[in-house]
Amino acid sequence: METVRVSASREYDVFIGTGFLGDVGEKIKEIKKPCRAVIVSDDTVYGIYGEKVKKSLEKSGFAPFEFVFPHGEESKSLKVFEEILNFCVGKSITRTDLIVALGGGVTGDLAGFAASAYLRGVDFVQIPTTLLAMVDSSVGGKTAVNLSSGKNLCGAFYQPLAVYADCETLETLPGEVFSEGCAEVIKYGMITDGGFLRFLENNSIAENIQKVVKRCVELKRDVVDRDEFEHGERKLLNFGHTIGHAVEKCSNLSVPHGDAVAIGMVIASKGAYRTGLSPEDFSELLLPLLMKNGLPVSCEYTAKQLYAAALSDKKRSLDSISLIVPEKYGRCKIENIPVSKLENFIERGLE
Ligand code: NAD
Ligand code: GLY
Repeated sequence: METVRVSASREYDVFIGTGFLGDVGEKIKEIKKPCRAVIVSDDTVYGIYGEKVKKSLEKSGFAPFEFVFPHGEESKSLKVFEEILNFCVGKSITRTDLIVALGGGVTGDLAGFAASAYLRGVDFVQIPTTLLAMVDSSVGGKTAVNLSSGKNLCGAFYQPLAVYADCETLETLPGEVFSEGCAEVIKYGMITDGGFLRFLENNSIAENIQKVVKRCVELKRDVVDRDEFEHGERKLLNFGHTIGHAVEKCSNLSVPHGDAVAIGMVIASKGAYRTGLSPEDFSELLLPLLMKNGLPVSCEYTAKQLYAAALSDKKRSLDSISLIVPEKYGRCKIENIPVSKLENFIERGLE
């Protein structure tokens, strides 16, 4: 088992290993006295791993309850958020109890936000079961639900007590969901680590899973430790996301997050080169890497549609928008552009 220590407003460990889910109760007991524990999970993940986690918690002296919701991005809503809070009230969960997020990024974001709000904050741990959640959403404390007006528009920064990433759980992940996580893996290389990008070009992510997860968590940890609340550097982690969220919104969430990020990274790289913000067209290097990992690199929406959707993005201040663009292969920078120039940027990125 490998450990990466995060030093944000709360210090915690991210444990990365293979085949320890059945002992996760004992691991949690190392940092939290046995208490009532609400396992929040979607129906698919709970169906595969729920009983294992529940039994492990029971064996270690916890009193677990499960809140299971329908899988999918639609559940990352205020409605399900409120259902979790009411469930906690119904089970007499107190401020010294625990929420356990078991699942992908949807579960982690939803359960984490509920933990931040219930009784003004209860402890929670993350047990990510998708590649995307292991390398990105379970680490760094961003929690949120979607509003009808846009993605992640309501949430909180709220760090977990610990993260337990058991790579064995990825064996049951459908291939296309694994690929989505690969988009976030590639994103880290594009932002900060050219050497890692070269490694990804020459090696398979699946065959090197523990090493890849650990490297991504370290890269994210380094950014979060320096800028937990996204005043500056953390914005780099949004590479591909501004346009990616617009793609998700235009598709009514039928294009999943990781696919949308892949498309967003391509449009941002091309757009940046063609509008003079990047010295080279890095999409030429990015494209084969995304395709090798089963990711889409284009979408059917027009610049006008994507622009309209991007305008509701929370990373927009009144008249400018922060775009993340590559300045070399393995390094990105933040460019604030006037909102009036965004449609042209997207249009050039779609050419
Ligand atoms: P997800 O949680 O919906 O999981 C994808 C699908 O895989 C679901 O149908 C789920 O039931 C299934 N699944 C999960 N684990 C499984 C397993 N081990 N075996 C079989 N099936 C499994 O989606 P996701 O891609 O993990 O996360 C996407 C979400 O994460 C988006 O809402 C995005 O906004 C959010 N996100 C948050 C952050 C952050 O920093 N908080 C970062 C990136 C993405
Ligand atoms: N996934 C972006 C962030 O955590 O900041």
